Amino acid sequence: MDILEKLHSLYGREIDEQLIKYLSKEVSEEFRDAVIYQVSTGGKRLRPLITLTAARACGGDYRAALPAAAIVELIHNYSLIYDDIIDEALLRRNKPTVRAKYGDNAAILIGIWYREAIEEAILETRDPIAFARETASTIRAIDEGERLDILLEYAGRRDPPYFAENRLGGPRLLSNWEALYNTYVKMISLKTAALIRTAAVFGAMSVNAQHCVNPLSDYGTYLGLAFQVLDDILDIFGDVRKFGKEIGKDIKEHKLGNAVVVMALKELGDKDKEELLGILGKTAVTNDDVKRAVEIISKTNARENALKIAMDFAEKSEKALNELGSNEFVDDLREILRFTVTREF
Ligand code: IPE
Ligand code: IPE
Ligand code: MG
Ligand code: MG
Ligand code: MG
Repeated sequence: MDILEKLHSLYGREIDEQLIKYLSKEVSEEFRDAVIYQVSTGGKRLRPLITLTAARACGGDYRAALPAAAIVELIHNYSLIYDDIIDEALLRRNKPTVRAKYGDNAAILIGIWYREAIEEAILETRDPIAFARETASTIRAIDEGERLDILLEYAGRRDPPYFAENRLGGPRLLSNWEALYNTYVKMISLKTAALIRTAAVFGAMSVNAQHCVNPLSDYGTYLGLAFQVLDDILDIFGDVRKFGKEIGKDIKEHKLGNAVVVMALKELGDKDKEELLGILGKTAVTNDDVKRAVEIISKTNARENALKIAMDFAEKSEKALNELGSNEFVDDLREILRFTVTREF
């Protein structure tokens, strides 16, 4: 049995009960299915599994961390509902996205419902003020990360004025690869790693294990960075049946902020670079354009080099984990790390 199956069989049912409980508060019969849809499509539940496992790794009772586990999975799904509006995504978890099924306007309202469900979960944590502060910081980080992600798009977003006027992917960033790479890492540390860090730290906070906070913070941050790099690799080279999201979507959405694209831009000669940027800069990127972009990228070692970056982050994450000492739950956290860098979905 792999680590996700193992953790799902231990905690999956209780996590789902929590999610439904907080989302159901005051919901009308007519709205209920639409509100529940996003969490009912499943997903790996990685973040709450990290929270519960982290609580036990610190010597606590995982049941004390159930509200915090719900918070992180609700933040995650909240961010995905809006991310799919931003990225114009139609497919997630091999199912229609909320916006594809109910429309963008319904998705905006459903997203607000998730934010309020998070508030309900906060009230049931050990220290609502501390959890509210961490939750707010985490959501602000995701917001800033998504903003940077959009600003790193090479085209699109003609709607004035903010995004079109402040685009980062101009000649200045493209002629300075180090600056592009640093901006990419900053972007993913905000949009993805901040929440995975919070998932780990919430485990310690839920069982009042102050000594665990720093190691879990570093474990989660580096795990989160590795996690997003793998997502970027799978976006370009994954198998849609396993990944459950459209392949090549980041290229269609003009993203410079994908690890594989960043690594390809480092290696490509002028002519190939110009052609790749030409595709990313098209108003409408077709399936044939995506195919050609992948051909160009595949002339380089971008895929292997992106994986190498993920492995470096994973190594830092594992080092932090070692500071927690050793018990079977620390081993589970290590297995989650291993899954993250070898995953296909
Ligand atoms: C997708 O996260 C969003 C990223 C941060 C890359 P997951 O891959 O954890 O999504 P689900 O919940 O398993 O579908
Ligand atoms: C991560 O970025 C999403 C959030 C942090 C909300 P992506 O846009 O790559 O996520 P997916 O690939 O759509 O799941
Ligand atoms: Mg997306
Ligand atoms: Mg996105
Ligand atoms: Mg992605």
